[in-house]
Amino acid sequence: MLTIGVLASGQGTNLQALIEAIKEGSLPVRIGVVISDNAGAYALERARKAGLPAHYIAPGPRLTYLVPEVEKKYVACLQQHGVELICLAGFMRVIKKTFLSAFPNRIINIHPSLLPAFPGLEAWRQALEYGVKFTGCTVHFVNEKVDAGRIILQAVVPVLPDDTPETLHRRIQEKEHLIYPLAVKLIATGRVSPGG
Ligand code: GAR
Repeated sequence: MLTIGVLASGQGTNLQALIEAIKEGSLPVRIGVVISDNAGAYALERARKAGLPAHYIAPGPRLTYLVPEVEKKYVACLQQHGVELICLAGFMRVIKKTFLSAFPNRIINIHPSLLPAFPGLEAWRQALEYGVKFTGCTVHFVNEKVDAGRIILQAVVPVLPDDTPETLHRRIQEKEHLIYPLAVKLIATGRVSPGG
């Protein structure tokens, strides 16, 4: 059975969706380890409650990415736990070369917009401010560019006239929780091959 590792910086609702799908028997993988760059991340709590190994690995000096020495620690931890596929689930740092070359075509991410529209931070707020009538979420392979790898799945969410950033993000997240487990399943069952 495929062993996945989950990286999360915050609430961890996508981690929870993966945990639930595994419990229900609809996702044939096991979670080998959960890692956070944020010691206070609720995602770590969720992992521990589910009986999963959960580690905080200090992110180092840079705000937006992990320097190579820190990436090496993340890679070592994932390898120690036998991880074959890494799922970024609200992990708010850019993945760089050391990490990518240790897991080529083996890192996926969920992003809260219909990429290539609205890469970057708070994509739901960007969509609302732009005035698009539809947005959504995307699961994609991670490459050296930000929010730019090959797309695995997308789901569409309409923007409603009275949406606030919070209501829109909440509805996008409902779709995230459906398509992230599904995308992992497509890879685990060989329907999507590494890299696209
Ligand atoms: C999710 O909406 C995810 O799409 C987004 O962070 C949120 C994490 O929620 N990720 C990004 O914006 C990455 N660029 P969660 O911690 O509850 O899963």
